[in-house]
Amino acid sequence: MAEDLQKIAGSREEKYTHLFPQVQALLQGETDLYANLANIAAAIHDVFGFFWVGFYLNKGSELVLGPFQGPVACTRIPFHKGVCGHAYTTKKVIIVPDVDQFPGHIACASASKSEIVLPVRHASGEVVMVLDVDSDQLNDFSEVDQAGLQRLMDLIEANWENWN
Ligand code: SME
Repeated sequence: MAEDLQKIAGSREEKYTHLFPQVQALLQGETDLYANLANIAAAIHDVFGFFWVGFYLNKGSELVLGPFQGPVACTRIPFHKGVCGHAYTTKKVIIVPDVDQFPGHIACASASKSEIVLPVRHASGEVVMVLDVDSDQLNDFSEVDQAGLQRLMDLIEANWENWN
């Protein structure tokens, strides 16, 4: 597809709604996992201007940095550490309004103030990666982000077997 992302003015919810079919089109016909994750991270980053957007992949013994947009970041996160590790272990979406109040938060950048992390699950239930979105604003994430980002993660889960 054309590589231009169309952006709209509007509420965050409207932006997620507008973004979804564009990401679907971006993924169409492409089966390379890293290429698709890179475009998903770039699309979210581009539309919302979040400080950092990226994936940490389950590499068997820890989470390892995958495609992302934003400043350089920690490369390895133990399964039981940080917000990402918590999302991995609990298999639940975690919204952290103030990272300084989250015990064990891994501060890759001091500018990061709030974050949301979503686990991405294989059909077997195993968490294969997490999406980590960081903001330089306190309390920047809500159920609207959770729903909008979850729809995008559902695309990954649905396509997982075809991507390599
Ligand atoms: N926020 C993460 C660490 C990764 S960086 O923010 C990119 C955490 O505590 O899990």
